[in-house]
Amino acid sequence: MESTVTVPGGRRIPRLGFGTYQIAPRDTEQRVGEALRAGYRHIDTARYYRNEKGVGAAVRASGLVRDDIWITSKLPIDADGADEVNRAVDATVDALGTHVDLYLIHWPRPRHGRYPRTWQALRSAQAAGRLREIGVSNFHQAQLDRILADGGPPPAVNQIEAHPHFANNAVRRFCAERGIAVAAWSPLGAGSVLRDPTIAAVAREAGRSPAQVILRWHLQRGDIVLPKASTPQRIRQNAAVFDFALDARQMTRIDQLDRGEAGRTGPNPERL
Ligand code: A2P
Repeated sequence: MESTVTVPGGRRIPRLGFGTYQIAPRDTEQRVGEALRAGYRHIDTARYYRNEKGVGAAVRASGLVRDDIWITSKLPIDADGADEVNRAVDATVDALGTHVDLYLIHWPRPRHGRYPRTWQALRSAQAAGRLREIGVSNFHQAQLDRILADGGPPPAVNQIEAHPHFANNAVRRFCAERGIAVAAWSPLGAGSVLRDPTIAAVAREAGRSPAQVILRWHLQRGDIVLPKASTPQRIRQNAAVFDFALDARQMTRIDQLDRGEAGRTGPNPERL
């Protein structure tokens, strides 16, 4: 099992990332430090989370080589147009104290209809050498189609909600066809999928925890995973997912847990 996904430019994104949504600024350095010690080499943050500063501090304190760590961050949710994008890039780089490897449009907000303009602004910032990889989050097929219509390179990543109760396969298939890597947020269904009896049964068979089984399912589907966890023990447990495998039957049993739209735990991006 490859521990990275290679994007078209050749850069390699570590497939196990640590999600930092809802980590308070004062706890971030310690929590991210815990993740880096546990072996995570990808940290997912956002302007909206207000914790980029702690992410940067943890990366510096880790003693790891900066290029061995991948930092994803995201534009403020209402950022729109070149000036706001450039200000946000400055603010992110300033808070992190280092470059950002991947910068995403956080939500398309289709009713505002401005995401194609924001995408163009990200493209310009990348062309100016201010950003390495760029991508999107919570984009549906129609929104991806609109930003692909300019004929430019596709986003490196679409970060979307995905987990066994909401497999999000239509968007995933569309991304696969267009060479866009998929990263799953709330890969454990915000914790709700941990209690699923099928997950519990597969976990018993595999001699692993429910969280490990779910994360392994994501990895075997080919996605990047961004689990969140609060305790050192859970942070470490969720990193130990590269030394076992689910067989085809176990994968299918988990595939069958998909509840479609009813399985979403977060907001539907179409409605924002
Ligand atoms: P906690 O924050 O108390 O550690 P998701 O990443 O899908 O949003 O899921 C996050 C939720 O899953 C959090 O409530 C987190 O609890 C819980 N969680 C994460 N890892 C584990 C684990 N290994 N065992 C049990 N619960 C976990």
